[in-house]
Amino acid sequence: MAYQTQDQHVLEPAVSRSQASLGHIVSVRGSEAHIGLSDQHRGANRATVGKFMAITAGEKALIGMITEVSARRLDAGSAGDHSAVARIALMGEIVKGSDGKPYFRRGVSDYPAIGDPANNVSNEQLRLIYTPSGQRTINIGQLAHDSSIAAHIDVDNLISKHFAVLGSTGVGKSSGVTVILSEILKARPDIRIFLLDGHNEYGRSFGQSANVISPGNLKLPFWLFTFEELTDVIYGGRPAPADEIEILSELIPIAKSNYLQYKTSPDRVTLKKGDPTRTGYTVDTPVPYLLQDLLSLIDSRMGKLENRSSRMNYHRLMMRMETIKNDPRYAFMFENASVGGDIMAELLNTLFRLESDGKPISIMQLAGLPVEVIDAVVSLLGRLAFDFGLWSEGKMPLLFVCEEAHRYASADRSMSFAPSRRALSRMAKEGRKYGVFLGLVTQRPAELDPTIISQCSTLFAMRMANDHDQALLRSAVSDAAANLLDFVPTLGTGDVIGFGEGMPVPAQFSFLRLDEAALPRADAGLSSESNWEGVSRKEFVNAVVNRWRGTDKKDIGPIPAAPDPVAPNAAATNAQIAGGPRPEIGSRPDPLRRPESGAAINDLLDDARRQILKR
Ligand SMILES: Nc1ncnc2c1ncn2[C@@H]1O[C@H](COP(=O)(O)OP(=O)(O)O)[C@@H](O)[C@H]1O
Ligand SMILES: [Mg+2]
Repeated sequence: MAYQTQDQHVLEPAVSRSQASLGHIVSVRGSEAHIGLSDQHRGANRATVGKFMAITAGEKALIGMITEVSARRLDAGSAGDHSAVARIALMGEIVKGSDGKPYFRRGVSDYPAIGDPANNVSNEQLRLIYTPSGQRTINIGQLAHDSSIAAHIDVDNLISKHFAVLGSTGVGKSSGVTVILSEILKARPDIRIFLLDGHNEYGRSFGQSANVISPGNLKLPFWLFTFEELTDVIYGGRPAPADEIEILSELIPIAKSNYLQYKTSPDRVTLKKGDPTRTGYTVDTPVPYLLQDLLSLIDSRMGKLENRSSRMNYHRLMMRMETIKNDPRYAFMFENASVGGDIMAELLNTLFRLESDGKPISIMQLAGLPVEVIDAVVSLLGRLAFDFGLWSEGKMPLLFVCEEAHRYASADRSMSFAPSRRALSRMAKEGRKYGVFLGLVTQRPAELDPTIISQCSTLFAMRMANDHDQALLRSAVSDAAANLLDFVPTLGTGDVIGFGEGMPVPAQFSFLRLDEAALPRADAGLSSESNWEGVSRKEFVNAVVNRWRGTDKKDIGPIPAAPDPVAPNAAATNAQIAGGPRPEIGSRPDPLRRPESGAAINDLLDDARRQILKR
């Protein structure tokens, strides 16, 4: 029979057409009902756990999911001649709208009565459930129940109430995220997306729509970091000596005020010492200052000291800061440290695509940054995203997507950097007020701060074997939906169970298949054996040492300060990391090419990186 949208069939399920229902209600308790199944439930009509059934209850069709099927009768004396009993959880109902058209809504307003006929949900009904009218939806996959039906999710609910993608490594989380984000970009051109890519795997996934920021072209001036973040960088995550903290916290506001004075009085000779009480600058105010100025302040303080041991403190601090400033791996923070220049607005624009220039998504590649600074960088970026939303009154909605979220917001407070957890937690709790939304991805949901995950209204659960992770999931979804969780350990790659606000009803589906080119972590054609052909081991070791020291980046040359610090190298870096096409030898010099190492070494190292990412 041809599919009819406006037919009565939807409200009178197959029962009235075939004259034979699969079963009848034999008991009802709360939102749970038992259906006595007739023999027909075998074959094509197999009633199995996870399938939906429709119960005709007067004018309505009540929709429920089978959570258990057993062969025994519910009780021997009960009426009917059923051979098995299915327990179902009622989830919603199909009713007739004011325009006469049937539509699906969550929750049930009427309960079934004993004897009400039940049947498998028909295709028309499933379509109605998954094609909600009056909502903006995106299609992200096919239902496991019937692969001809698309898994539509409510894009506004999905974004504005935060979401999380959970599952073990290699089950298709990143691919799923690529599907979700690509569809969001199509449905909501107003949304900007910022993706924290911990393994540099998304570089090619969004084609021309993405602005790829790599450690090679990142610029985050040191003065944007809060005091806590800056000291975390300076002391490499170890606790800082109290004396040195005191010196810094006193002198940084002075350096900031000094900088303001340089700006306002061009004649530097007449300069008076900056007075932070007048400017109102604190250690955390995101205004520029000169690192050199801070170092001079420390130096002149030191000169005035009589006490030798306090002089040592000052000296040690200066040494430490000089070292970091000169370390090429930290160039992204200290590049223009002695030149100054306020690039905050420009930076926000580039990072969060405020003027998207056809690239509404930013991919922040973190692999390659010194490990000691990643926490501080994540904290800074999360904070910038939230604060921009706050100060702009949410005028520019931003979806902040964080891979490996458990690393930056650990459930164990001693494990992760407090400011990065705070930044994520603030977005989770208050972000939606200011148009800042969160998408979290993690393979260890049980290790993620539970207060953050509890703010995610849509959950996508993929295969997960760990008991703790499953327990967490169970506590996060409704009782009826929890029945679906039994499938979580056995899901295939790319299969997912969706719960919550974004989904009409909880359901298992498979994410859309991605083209090879769009797959995060392209590893096509990789063998586990490295190709050493044409590579001299000695040159290879030299290249590795240069990478290690960060001296290879010196070849990049000065990155122009304005106007778009990200554009020039993005494509090249991205292609390098993703193993894409490389400029031909003899063409414009590739900024990332290490002169002493041939293309073969680069290939080898790029391959190795992708091998690591696969683990
Ligand atoms: N939607 C999909 N389309 C195509 N291939 C997929 C999809 N989901 C998973 N895969 C396959 O599974 C592999 C692992 O997926 P990935 O998304 O990297 O997993 P995770 O991020 O969970 O570690 C991919 O490299 C790809 O081969
Ligand atoms: Mg991944």
